[in-house]
Amino acid sequence: MLGRLLALPLVLGALVVAGCGGEETTGLEGADTTNGRELFLAGADGKQPCGSCHVLADAGAAGTVGPNLDTALGFSCAQGFEEDTIYEVVLRQIDLARGNMPSDLVTGQDAVDVAAYVASVAGKDIEGCDPSGDRGGTGTGAAETTQAGG
Ligand code: HEC
Repeated sequence: MLGRLLALPLVLGALVVAGCGGEETTGLEGADTTNGRELFLAGADGKQPCGSCHVLADAGAAGTVGPNLDTALGFSCAQGFEEDTIYEVVLRQIDLARGNMPSDLVTGQDAVDVAAYVASVAGKDIEGCDPSGDRGGTGTGAAETTQAGG
């Protein structure tokens, strides 16, 4: 009897850890962009892959349901937004998925990897955008918006 009472909290604790609560992710720095690229094209757990709805030249993806990510994110990139900002934008979109995009197509470290991959390549063919060019930079750029008049 006492044994059963003690075991219950342990089981519940294990469930919480296995669920979303205790998941550790690397963030942009330690992300595996090779895994991110694969997930972008193949999807995770049988869910729809990003590439089925989005254009992303680096991945060879040509989906037309959602916005072209080279254009949508490349524009921000060319405006001087840093890679980590774009990474945050993509990660948030995966998590919250405004509009007609299903949420949580990838989760945890997979979501980090996909977002890091997208941030590292989106819009790289757009003039003025060099997504991975500033890698390792000091990260001051985003605050520094110089707006020379028209
Ligand atoms: C079923 C189709 C579909 C899939 C699959 C999909 N998306 Fe989307 N995505 C959309 C649509 C539609 C929008 C536009 C949402 C809106 O604002 O109405 C969007 C918007 C976005 C945006 C915002 C673009 C902007 O203009 O700011 C990003 C970033 C994005 N998706 C990334 C991803 C990533 C990464 C994946 C894979 C994990 C993915 N999407 C999978 C349909 C999809």
